Amino acid sequence: KRSRTIFSGIQPTGVPHLGNYLGALREWVKLQRDANHGDQLIYSIVDLHAITVKQEREQLAKRKKELFASLLAIGLDPKRSIIFEQSRVPEHLELMWILSCNASMGYLGRMTQWKSKLALSENASPFEASAPNKPALKLGLFSYPVLQAADILVYGTTHVPVGEDQAQHLEFARDLAAGFNHVYAPHEGVEILRSPQTILSPAKRVMSLTDPTKKMSKSDPDPRSSILITDSKEEIRKKINGAKTDSLVGISYDRERRPGVSNLIDILCYMADDNTISPETLARDMGAANVSMKALKELVADTIDVGLRDVRGRYEDIMSLPIDHLSGLSKDGKSRARTEARKMVNTVYAALGL
Ligand code: ADP
Ligand code: NA
Repeated sequence: KRSRTIFSGIQPTGVPHLGNYLGALREWVKLQRDANHGDQLIYSIVDLHAITVKQEREQLAKRKKELFASLLAIGLDPKRSIIFEQSRVPEHLELMWILSCNASMGYLGRMTQWKSKLALSENASPFEASAPNKPALKLGLFSYPVLQAADILVYGTTHVPVGEDQAQHLEFARDLAAGFNHVYAPHEGVEILRSPQTILSPAKRVMSLTDPTKKMSKSDPDPRSSILITDSKEEIRKKINGAKTDSLVGISYDRERRPGVSNLIDILCYMADDNTISPETLARDMGAANVSMKALKELVADTIDVGLRDVRGRYEDIMSLPIDHLSGLSKDGKSRARTEARKMVNTVYAALGL
């Protein structure tokens, strides 16, 4: 069996939320558990992506530490996975420049992330975004998918576990790799940059608790919109209890017409993590048993509380360790990541004649 190189990243916006956990992080740990000898796992705290929007210095440093501790708390093991901070491995930026010289502005203009960050419509153009009455579109935010492609391609990654919202960026990364190989590989069919596969978690999209038509996101300023993986039993109970549902009687599953209730049912199924019960079946059984909304919410809160209890305990332990412990692990991750990334950058430079 061919060995795999698995890469993924997460922004240091503090302790991850339930959407990050179910949509991506729990998958990272599963891949580590199921890894074969020879597989490589590389997980990055993508701090250079975080600064595409304004960050406060002290807060960013604090959030990076909280994220590092969270990654250990969910079960990533620095002996089996390389865990590192993106800004410590400058090879990402070197490959990014090379890719930038081959990335099409038109293609980047069709990406949706910069539009949603600037609250622009889906068919907005970059020129519209730089109109005088609009918030300025910065080059870094616009070209963010090129850096993301470099993050992935610099390790010769074969598999990228992410949530559904990242699928478009991975398509872009594959196209950049293919375009680069086409122009710079010595013969047709030679792969210098390897095209990675997307691994989508079964928990595709966890929705916001306050507005279940939007995804749960760290950029939502309302703390009641998401559950953090370190939230206490009481905090979980309060947030789920306050989750927006509707005034229809009973429980049923309909993501279009009943997004709030459906999100709670989805969370129950995702937490169970054995794919034995579909949300439709679960909702039908609950509806038939006349389960009340209050009882559903209690069940969801209890399930999350039990499911995250160990993570919460480990997080407390890790945060109370001396700071040297985490910085030592981070340095070690950095050296291992740099060794891998340097090989690819050297190969790419040689292909270009640099
Ligand atoms: P956010 O979108 O909250 O800013 P990131 O962009 O750092 O978080 O995403 C980290 C990982 O979590 C990515 O793989 C992303 O696809 C996944 N993810 C983020 N939000 C959700 C969600 N609501 N449901 C499922 N997966 C999610
Ligand atoms: Na995201």
